[in-house]
Parts: sequence; structure tokens; C-alpha cells
Amino acid sequence: METAQKGSLIIVGTGISVAGQMTLLAKSYIENADIVFMGIMNKVGEHAVQTLNPNTHTLDDLYKEGKSRAVTYAEMADRIVQAVIDGNRVCAAFYGHPGVFVSPSHEALKRVKRLGFEAKMLPGVSAEDCLIADLGIDPSKFGCQSYEATQFLFRDYRIDPYMTQIIWQIGLVGEATLSVLNASHAAPGLAMLAAILRENYPKEHELILYEAATLPLCEPKIQKFPLSELESIQPSLISTLVVPALGLPEYRHDRLTKLGLTQQQVTQYRSTSQNRR
Ligand SMILES: C[S@@+](CC[C@H](N)C(=O)[O-])C[C@H]1O[C@@H](n2cnc3c(N)ncnc32)[C@H](O)[C@@H]1O
Repeated sequence: METAQKGSLIIVGTGISVAGQMTLLAKSYIENADIVFMGIMNKVGEHAVQTLNPNTHTLDDLYKEGKSRAVTYAEMADRIVQAVIDGNRVCAAFYGHPGVFVSPSHEALKRVKRLGFEAKMLPGVSAEDCLIADLGIDPSKFGCQSYEATQFLFRDYRIDPYMTQIIWQIGLVGEATLSVLNASHAAPGLAMLAAILRENYPKEHELILYEAATLPLCEPKIQKFPLSELESIQPSLISTLVVPALGLPEYRHDRLTKLGLTQQQVTQYRSTSQNRR
């Protein structure tokens, strides 16, 4: 549909590390926007964006202890959408990938498109991308289940222990009010998660609490511990929990037979397909 509307919206990610993970395209959109909104949660990252465009405004002032994050996210989307309606070329920059565990970006994009303005999202470097690099986990090896910790507790999801589990927002696990801004309420949720994992893994199975480096010259934090100690870990708001796979599951000989394949042929296929990546 041809649009005569003047405003537009581009949503970009700044990466997890404030140094070097912003794409050239994201940088260019930030530089050329009439107004930039930032949801970056990091003063050094905010400064990096401000140096690219002087008309830059934080969205993080909307967070308040005791206020539901659902309200905060709706207000963030409102600010972004209103600036587009006012006729601006708006850039909204969120840390990491702007579409990974970021509801105001998706909400603003949807509303702006519905109003007939031009709008799109660019990909960015997410925490999961950093994790794959820092921990040497290739999703092609075991497959991967990636999900939000609290949502996982609340619903009847199934773990496949032969896949890597990447569990986001572990610092807020079990926190249903959406109104706390620290990771000091996680103990009951961690205990429940530990009990669920114990149905699928031995108590000595090694887990990883992971924090990608956010600042230049810093190293990632990689804490390894047995499942039996999960209840006593102290995650932060930027921790991600990784549960490595138990290994590969058994072959399904019935399916191989139907496809006219032998186990040996399939073994060769697997190693070749991984090498291609
Ligand atoms: C609201 S989400 C934002 C994710 C972000 N948009 C991305 O692309 O990675 C916050 C969650 O992302 C993960 N996360 C954020 N920063 C991280 C970091 N430096 N290292 C590891 N995980 C991180 C944690 O699971 C955290 O609870």
C-alpha cells in the first residue's frame, strides 16, 4: 500500500557489548533519525548512542520499583508511536536484538504499521548469539529449547533433555507481579525449576549461569555448578541459565527403515551436515 504519511519507524539493536556489536546499518539509522529512543539499560551504551545522534531520549526512566513492567512497556510503545504520528523519522534502539524478549518494540512496530506508516525492525546481536560463541554451543549439535523462565513454570511445557535448554530471565523466575526490578526474589522459582529439571537430569548434571560481557575489555561470567545446587545460585537480571544436553537420543530405527536407510548412512549425514555450517 502506498503511504503518504511522513513519519516512519526503524527499530534497531545495539548488541550486548556496547563496543563493536552494533551493525553498520543500525548505526546509520541512528545517525539519520529525527529522534532516537533508547531502551538500553546501560549508561555506557546510552552514551555511545547519544554520540551518534544528539536528539536521543531514554525510555528507561519509565521503569519504577513497584510499577508493573507491563505498564512500563505500554508507555514505551506509546512514546515511540506518538513520535511517528508527529511526523518524525523515529529510531528506537534496544540492547541486544531488538526483537528478542522486548515487547515494546514489537508492539510499537505493529501499531505504526497499522496506522499506515513505514516501519521495520533490523536484527541485532542477542545474548543467545554471545552465548553460542562464548560457550561453544552450536545449536545444530543437539538442537535447542529457548524460553522464558517464569512462563515455563506457569504452563505445561515439556523439556527434551537431549536438547540444550536456554532459560532466559532466570533472575526473575517465578516473579509474577512484574513489578520488581532486582533478582532477589528468585529463590522459590529456582527451587521449583530445580525440581522440574530433576525429573529429566541427574542431580550431578552440570548447569551454566551465563552473563555475556557488556563492556569493552571485560570477560563473560561463566559459572558452572551441578543441578543439585541450582536452588542456591544468585542470578542477576542479565543472567541466562544453560542446561547442556544429555547427549544424542537413540536412533528411530522404524523411521530409518521406512526411508530405506541404514544407521551408518545416517551417521555420515549428521557429521557432514554439521561440517557444512
Ligand atoms: C528483556 S531480555 C532482553 C534480551 C535482549 N534483547 C537480547 O537480545 O539478548 C533480558 C534477558 O536477556 C538475557 N540477557 C540480557 N543481557 C545478557 C547478558 N549480558 N548475558 C546473558 N544474558 C543476557 C537474560 O536472560 C535477561 O534476563
